[in-house]
Amino acid sequence: MSVFLKTALFCVIVVAAFTLFSVYYIPDLKPAPPPMETRADITTMDLEEITALGRYVYGVKGSCSRCHGSVGGRAPELKEIALTAAGRIKEDSYKGSAITAAGYIYESMVDPSLYVVRGYGVKGTSDAESPMPAASNRAVGLTETDMRAVIAYLQENSGVTPTPFFKLPEGYGADKAHGRAGKGEAASER
Ligand code: HEC
Repeated sequence: MSVFLKTALFCVIVVAAFTLFSVYYIPDLKPAPPPMETRADITTMDLEEITALGRYVYGVKGSCSRCHGSVGGRAPELKEIALTAAGRIKEDSYKGSAITAAGYIYESMVDPSLYVVRGYGVKGTSDAESPMPAASNRAVGLTETDMRAVIAYLQENSGVTPTPFFKLPEGYGADKAHGRAGKGEAASER
């Protein structure tokens, strides 16, 4: 065989080998899908699905864990937030309208500056302004379902029975006058 033929044959074999390899051995890299469509109707989901969605929102979609993780100290830990929240709304300095722990967490997400945990405010504002981005603003883009799910997830972590269908604090959700939270999804009135 001439050198040319040998070289050509070698090239064909190498190309064929790479082609076979890429077709059969390189797995399709698809990112893991979210546990379920985050625009799904929460009223059709069971508690397990809701908390699974909440975990996804907390760790991925809402990037909550980026600030609220145990390292860094950028934000208060939320390990017992459902218990802490019940105390917050009883404080004299509390000016929001939540009457449940779930409602307080919701308020904290949608209107972070309404109550600022001491020492965590934006520098120079004497804790009047929160550095936390509102979860419903377009950059974060959580839906009503996402927020109810992440609250259920946080309640479960606190050892409290999740109440994803809690009534929103006055002025939120279906009450369009407030204009910031909720798009009037089915669950917002429960
Ligand atoms: C950029 C950082 C950042 C991100 C992202 C963030 N937070 Fe926060 N969050 C903070 C800081 C700082 C505070 C404390 C100041 C305050 O009270 O607003 C806070 C406060 C809170 C509180 C009140 C805590 C308390 O002890 O009263 C809740 C509840 C909360 N965040 C939930 C969330 C959830 C849920 C998400 C994800 C959707 C989230 N946060 C995303 C920084 C962040």
